[in-house]
Amino acid sequence: MPLRLDASEALLDRARRVDATLADGYALARDRLIDGEYPVFARGAAGPYVWDVDGNRYVDLILAYGTVVLGHGAAEVTQAVSAELAAGFCPSMRKPVQVELLELLCEVVPGAEQALLLKTGSDATSAAVRLARAHTGRDGVIRWGYNGWHDWAATRPAGVPAAVREAVHTFAFNDLDDLERLLERHGHEIACCLMMPFEVELPEPGFLAGVQELLRRHGVVFVLDEMRSGFRLALGGAQEVYGLEPDLATYGKAMANGYPISALCGRRELMRRVGDVHISSTFFINAAEMAAAVATIDALRRDDHLERIARLGRRLQDELAASIARNGVAAGVTGAPQMPFVRFLDGDEQRREQDKETFYTAVVRRGVLLHPNHHWFICSAMSDEDLDAVVAACDAGFSLVGARR
Ligand SMILES: Cc1ncc(COP(=O)(O)O)c(C=O)c1O
Repeated sequence: MPLRLDASEALLDRARRVDATLADGYALARDRLIDGEYPVFARGAAGPYVWDVDGNRYVDLILAYGTVVLGHGAAEVTQAVSAELAAGFCPSMRKPVQVELLELLCEVVPGAEQALLLKTGSDATSAAVRLARAHTGRDGVIRWGYNGWHDWAATRPAGVPAAVREAVHTFAFNDLDDLERLLERHGHEIACCLMMPFEVELPEPGFLAGVQELLRRHGVVFVLDEMRSGFRLALGGAQEVYGLEPDLATYGKAMANGYPISALCGRRELMRRVGDVHISSTFFINAAEMAAAVATIDALRRDDHLERIARLGRRLQDELAASIARNGVAAGVTGAPQMPFVRFLDGDEQRREQDKETFYTAVVRRGVLLHPNHHWFICSAMSDEDLDAVVAACDAGFSLVGARR
């Protein structure tokens, strides 16, 4: 049965006149869910659940694109933020919690000798690029994955000067030869290579270490973009898991369980370039989000949240793989257990898109929010019973896809 989404649809109609993000052609991931099947407006969220404005409840595996790690509205985070708000969170001076958070980051992130606090992921990745340019005296950038919306990282060319686009290069993931060719051609003009450790495909053994080695050889600053992997794969993110030593690393999202704050961490020699460049915002000093980050990192350090997330993720991946095999679906489970994904694999594009639509429609109608075009995420507030519901919804989805063959 289709969900009742009348209240969502009514709000969407009102919003179309005034909300610029509903312009024709605005095609970022959040708007590419299954049209008419997914809710658009939420009434609220708690723990692993989201309620839409029509009153439907979902187990949430989108989790605000990976910003929620402890569950929506985790009590210790809310309390820390409330206390900071009550005390006055923007008094024109630094609050003590800023030092506390910076010390914490330098303790838990392996390569962090110093850190800089910003607000968004794009702030942090753009700051990394600017420091690398100042440090090397080079303008070029190699980037891989999604790294934000600023000129050097924009995924659509409109509005970006040609000169900026020409200075930015990319390469094929898991292909060291491709990166080597790029470095041989352009290495002398490249300031940094800024990359996610992986997207939905995991790195092959030795790939990330090989990237690090190639970059060192060419004097290119290595920036690991840990916006999704940080504080989720491990406290120190993928650099801890894969034993890497990036010069700089960017964090945000799960670091503060949904509050807007990001961090650039790294070697002192690079970080001290902050004194030579212009990186500033009125809001960088606001302390409420810093309190959220300290409370989140404290919780992640104190309890077994990350082990729990990994265990639930492995269970989900195993059960999905079994369901795919049982139902004879052309699909495969990929990604890290903490941020898994299913790829539909039919060689015929139209059939593949139809399989996807059938699956995600069935799943959302059964009260589970999965993103069709982006990692899913797991939070520690999710119980094994919630996961049972996710598995049952996915199984129903795969069975419908299988039955159409
Ligand atoms: C890996 C990565 N880097 C950078 C960003 C940009 O962060 P923001 O959207 O907060 O600017 C994102 C956002 O999704 C991301 O996933």
